[in-house]
Amino acid sequence: MTTHVLGLLLGTEEDWPAAFESIVRRLGPVTDGSDTVHHYDVERVTVEPFNLRQKPRYDLVIDRLAYWYYHPREWLKKAALMDDLYLLNSPFTFQSMEKHAAYCAMMRLGLKVPETVLVPYKNPPDHAKYAFTAQRYNRPFDLDALAESIGYPIFMKPYDGGAWVGVTHIRNREELHKAYDESGQRLMHLQKAVAGYDVFARSLSIGAETMVLKFDPDQPMHARYSVTHDFLDAGVGDEVVTISRLVNAFFRWEFNSCETLIKGDEVYPIDYANACPDVAITSLHYYFPWAIKALVKWSVFCTVTGRRARYDLDTRRYFDIADRDDLGYTEKLSSYRQFADDYFEAERYADFCASRLANIDDVVLEWVAGQDFDRLLIDTVRTTFPAHEHDHFIAHYRGLLAAWASDERARLG
Ligand SMILES: Nc1ncnc2c1ncn2[C@@H]1O[C@H](COP(=O)(O)OP(=O)(O)O)[C@@H](O)[C@H]1O
Ligand SMILES: [Mg+2]
Repeated sequence: MTTHVLGLLLGTEEDWPAAFESIVRRLGPVTDGSDTVHHYDVERVTVEPFNLRQKPRYDLVIDRLAYWYYHPREWLKKAALMDDLYLLNSPFTFQSMEKHAAYCAMMRLGLKVPETVLVPYKNPPDHAKYAFTAQRYNRPFDLDALAESIGYPIFMKPYDGGAWVGVTHIRNREELHKAYDESGQRLMHLQKAVAGYDVFARSLSIGAETMVLKFDPDQPMHARYSVTHDFLDAGVGDEVVTISRLVNAFFRWEFNSCETLIKGDEVYPIDYANACPDVAITSLHYYFPWAIKALVKWSVFCTVTGRRARYDLDTRRYFDIADRDDLGYTEKLSSYRQFADDYFEAERYADFCASRLANIDDVVLEWVAGQDFDRLLIDTVRTTFPAHEHDHFIAHYRGLLAAWASDERARLG
């Protein structure tokens, strides 16, 4: 018998952590292929002084905090470097490979990232040496000519991205100058807009699983994901999954979302470095049970099998494929997909879930259909929406989750 402690490093969220804790508790111990019984505890990680040589008590940590809170971020790095702590996302690449570097890497691999230009700061950084350096080395540039060479419409957005902050849709010169003037000390990309796209697909990946969701950025939060299956044809759907897994395998991310815009048969990735992807019940609704189940399954798989976290990268291996002139886009993608499937041990994971976690579908279904879940739903609505909307949204989400439960019952037979 062995016990694993799963740590949750949290910010303000209450919904999915409570769900995760409930499912792990209800799942009970997991027996591996050699009859060892694995027990699980889930604990919330606290922030406190730590000695760099002190061993953490966790086997695996799911982090939702370190992208803005630097003390726990440095604790994660220490635990990754010193203690082999299993982290779903590498804290090293998430700090260094923000949106800009992720664009660069995926362009090099041949993905259809829209034309993107990094412009110098509108207002200089606060630095004593700036005036001298700028006078000597900053070349004046023609913003209008630059924009025209990209072609309107354009998006201006921060090079490191996140939560739509500072993102502007630009249709003409006037909007261009206004946005640039307002960018101040933020470093900005100009990116060609994928205008008139057919579908906005947001795919959420958790370990070896990916859910591709139809997304509408113009809707309010609760209505951005629609409940629809097969909204992409099989080939395009597979391409979206491949791109998501490729990004994740390449950077060592296992809990990440990827945004792609689809126009005709072309898939354009625009945003795929999201260290803390949205998994709120109020936005995922119908897909929330899938997300929690995938998080539990992947955490159990990694700890039972002793999967080692890989914080080193295989950059060269991918570039060797990218640089080959004899391979086209589709062939390159299929090579990357193979690397990614190997990295995520896709086959072994599927076998593991079938043989060792055969009861989890029933556990989750029973939980979602029961009182505990309903209470969580009510509490979440109450903390998310104003009082006069509570009844409306409780009914709304109950309806969506009941639809999930009914589909799930049918699927399980
Ligand atoms: N090149 C683009 N073409 C079309 N829409 C875009 C493009 N870039 C960004 N957008 C729109 O702006 C939103 C925010 O941009 P994104 O790159 O996702 O920034 P963030 O990292 O803040 O989420 C996207 O969800 C999308 O609706
Ligand atoms: Mg985005």
